[in-house]
Amino acid sequence: MKYPLVCLQRKTSIKNAIQQIERSPFDRAFVVDEAGVYAGCVAVADLRRLLISGAQVEEPVDAYPMRHDYSLADKSLETPRQARALISDMKLKGVRFLPVVDPDGRITEILSLEDISNMYSVEETEATAKLPAARKVLVVGGAGFLGSVLTRKLLARGFRVRVLDSFIYDRKSLDNLAGDENLEIVEGDLRNIHTCVSALADIDAVVLLAAIVGDPASKVRPTQTIETNVLAAQALAMASKLHFIPRFLYASTCSVYGIGDAILDEDAPLNPVSLYARTKIESEKIILGMGDEYFCPTVLRMGTLYGFSPRMRFDLVVNTMSMKSHVNGGIQVFGGDQWRPLLGVEDAAEVYVRCLEAKLEDVGNQVFNVGSDAQNYKIDEVAQIISEALGGVPISRDQSNLDSRDYRVSFAKLSDILKYAPVQTIDGAAREIVKNLQSGVIKDPARKIYYNHFFDSAEE
Ligand SMILES: NC(=O)c1ccc[n+]([C@@H]2O[C@H](COP(=O)([O-])OP(=O)(O)OC[C@H]3O[C@@H](n4cnc5c(N)ncnc54)[C@H](O)[C@@H]3O)[C@@H](O)[C@H]2O)c1
Repeated sequence: MKYPLVCLQRKTSIKNAIQQIERSPFDRAFVVDEAGVYAGCVAVADLRRLLISGAQVEEPVDAYPMRHDYSLADKSLETPRQARALISDMKLKGVRFLPVVDPDGRITEILSLEDISNMYSVEETEATAKLPAARKVLVVGGAGFLGSVLTRKLLARGFRVRVLDSFIYDRKSLDNLAGDENLEIVEGDLRNIHTCVSALADIDAVVLLAAIVGDPASKVRPTQTIETNVLAAQALAMASKLHFIPRFLYASTCSVYGIGDAILDEDAPLNPVSLYARTKIESEKIILGMGDEYFCPTVLRMGTLYGFSPRMRFDLVVNTMSMKSHVNGGIQVFGGDQWRPLLGVEDAAEVYVRCLEAKLEDVGNQVFNVGSDAQNYKIDEVAQIISEALGGVPISRDQSNLDSRDYRVSFAKLSDILKYAPVQTIDGAAREIVKNLQSGVIKDPARKIYYNHFFDSAEE
């Protein structure tokens, strides 16, 4: 068959069906009887709903009504008009594939919406180009620095997205996405148990980005940090497990390594130097500890992010230096000798998408450092690269180091398993940030909204 869609037997257990569908790139499977005759279709979301409402995991899928969305006998559409009607109906119901059956009802082929458009020369309209995706992803913290980039990338790759965010730093980062039929935006606080659980309805995969992010912000609001970064994270992971949602991507940080001499891989000892890093370690442990064959979380320990985002932050080293070069005509370096792994925000978002697209067994129940060996930099080097990129901006040095983190990280596992090597560069990002300042896209980089520790969401 052209598409690796799962075909299940009628007596396949619900548990087994969920596992097989989750390990395929699609959100549903066709069911056949012993003679191979098409019996209907099951969507993983329906199976999850059955379990939540009391079905037993060992019951067969045919114990409950199946979907009989569509099937096509001998590709029996005669005119492009019939094909167009079928396509628009399938789209409305979020169906991307249909089985072609022979006169005995056996599946001979599977066709996608695109195949039908091509076969019957139905013109590709904007709507057919934007096919409903197989998976619906909950992005908690989707309005943030990374989240607003990731949400756009997921939509562009055909995923349906529900963002849950309390908009600590305003909701403007998602403004120009409003109206996208594949995006649902929910304003809510993950710390509210009801909000946390109801956000999971009909979700196939969860990305948890929401947190109080950065050492200074967690210092200012320690209680909110513990509530959000550990307790709410734990509740969301537990609720996801109870909903049989196996893909759970947890945003962690290379700050968990704190200080270290060697080049640190995923098994290196952790050495947190802040409340922020300690909360990230605790939730990593809790979430990974819940992992089993049904709930397969992935922990992504990212380097310090940089680059332009619809929710801009100027409290990240590359972004700060680039902005100061433009505003003050100079870069100030504190310390300078300390190592820090850096990662472009576009690259970070790409890794999340690849984890959602990867086979579950390749990424589930594991930790990945996310970054590139080549982007382990000393802070002094970062200043020099930015200075050169921006035409030789002067650098001044202050020996006092306000941030004790100093670590180099190995990203070999990311490139071995996900085959991904980051492509964004510090100099490119510095130029892009300055371009956005010069053109007035960002009018006043001193506004508190660009710095997490001010917790500011005031309108301009
Ligand atoms: N930025 C980095 O350098 C970096 C590096 C490594 C890891 N990370 C991790 O990546 C994730 C995203 O970081 P970011 O830089 O995008 O941060 P950010 O502060 O820009 O975004 C966090 C988002 O979460 C939302 N949020 C916070 N608490 C919430 C709650 N209780 N309920 C709902 N929404 C809530 C905020 O409103 C915000 O939109 C974080 O988990 C962070 O720890 C970031």
